Amino acid sequence: MRRHYLLPDISAPGRTGCRLPDLDVTPSALPSAEMLRTDLALPEVSEGDLVRYFTALSALNYGVDTGFYPLGSCTMKYNPKWHEDVARLPGFASVHPLQPADSVPGALRLIFELQKYLAEITGLAVSSLAPMAGAQGELAGILMVRAYHRKRGEAARRTILVPDSAHGTNPATAVMGGFGTAVVPSDADGNLDIKSLDAMMNEEVAALTLTLPNTFGLFDPQILEIARLVHRRGGLLCGDGANLNSLLGKVKFGDLGFDCVQLNLHKTFATPHGGGGPGAGPVCVNDTLAPFLPTPLVVADGRDLSFDSPPDSIGRLGAAYGNFGVMVRAYAYIRSLGAEGLKEVSENAVLNANYLKEKLKKHYHLPYDRPCLHEVVLSGKRQKVDGVRTLDIAKRLLDYGFHPPTIYFPLVVEEAILIEPTETESKETLDAFVGAMLEIAREAEENPDLLRGAPHDTPVNRLDEAAAARKPDLRWKM
Ligand SMILES: Cc1ncc(COP(=O)(O)O)c(C=O)c1O
Repeated sequence: MRRHYLLPDISAPGRTGCRLPDLDVTPSALPSAEMLRTDLALPEVSEGDLVRYFTALSALNYGVDTGFYPLGSCTMKYNPKWHEDVARLPGFASVHPLQPADSVPGALRLIFELQKYLAEITGLAVSSLAPMAGAQGELAGILMVRAYHRKRGEAARRTILVPDSAHGTNPATAVMGGFGTAVVPSDADGNLDIKSLDAMMNEEVAALTLTLPNTFGLFDPQILEIARLVHRRGGLLCGDGANLNSLLGKVKFGDLGFDCVQLNLHKTFATPHGGGGPGAGPVCVNDTLAPFLPTPLVVADGRDLSFDSPPDSIGRLGAAYGNFGVMVRAYAYIRSLGAEGLKEVSENAVLNANYLKEKLKKHYHLPYDRPCLHEVVLSGKRQKVDGVRTLDIAKRLLDYGFHPPTIYFPLVVEEAILIEPTETESKETLDAFVGAMLEIAREAEENPDLLRGAPHDTPVNRLDEAAAARKPDLRWKM
């Protein structure tokens, strides 16, 4: 059935969608004639037309509640609605940030316990829930690194090492924290090139920031050696733990030698990720960095809980206490799954990604042919020979009803296609996605123009994406 996405299509002169009641007040005079329009081009539609129009528009939104969303690095998994109910309980949803602490003991208890759970999950000593995004958690880590070196009289350490596979926020955060960055290359297997690290690790280096698993979806088996090398030369090891759904219950950052790590509660722990909505990027640290944690922390004195600030705290990262609703969801998620359930999360995340890898590797180039963790990076290099780019493959997926994976990231993989199926998808969904990808691989060989012109079945076809982002066309025009 044809749907109308543009009101002019259904406009008819004289048709109206509203009835105004008779006037029961004295009419006031209209402004002078030169301030009035005589003519206003608005669509003339019935109420029913209008309802259908807006309902059709609302159904154009694609999200994890409508379909598979394998956007690598973003963990677009299904979040059970039960957590939303818990976050909306009036005792949580109505807390005011300026309420006296002793009037919200339940909220304090939740923050206190969540701090402990996250420290336990990461194998680190303490955590602070103050940061309100993954990148802000990274910033907290970098500012603590700076404060630590300054306190030891080593302010000359002004460089943060960042692998070439890093998530973009990692180098940006280092620069925001007042550091310079130096890029450590990856080796042919997708691990950090340890010889380069060895050569770069000098007394000017404050820390190495490492996303683990990295943005190729790979766990670096040299991690203990990396930690030793960095520490031996006086540096610190900061983790980007945003990919924690692949490690939950299996591996702890503290055991691997990390000094600090940020987590993305809005990816891993039941808050939908995306749309610039509220997030939380708690930062977990070992004893070395604990005195520098951002404030506030919730601390216990017997059964009494209160807010506290560590002695050398880097201070506040924002108003109030972080995004409390995101914490409530994370707490509910951890409590409802328990230790065994969290382990199953990472097992399923890894299983799903490896399933896709095995099914797709005969048809798409696989740059790192080894077991992956929660995501797999493929490349459209093979299709490029037929004149089809990764962008074309992604656009064609829209015709098959799937949100495309992340493309052209990681930057160091030519024609990258980064697929993160997440732990919440069934085998049937994965098989349907594989089916579409294989069809597209066939189409790339037999009818490349079909891909170059895709998408064909969406309300709007191929857009100039840079223009669409920079000059969005948001106004209705007759
Ligand atoms: C690996 C990694 N690090 C950091 C971030 C940044 O997190 P945020 O978008 O919450 O700032 C992301 C975002 O998804 C990520 O995937």
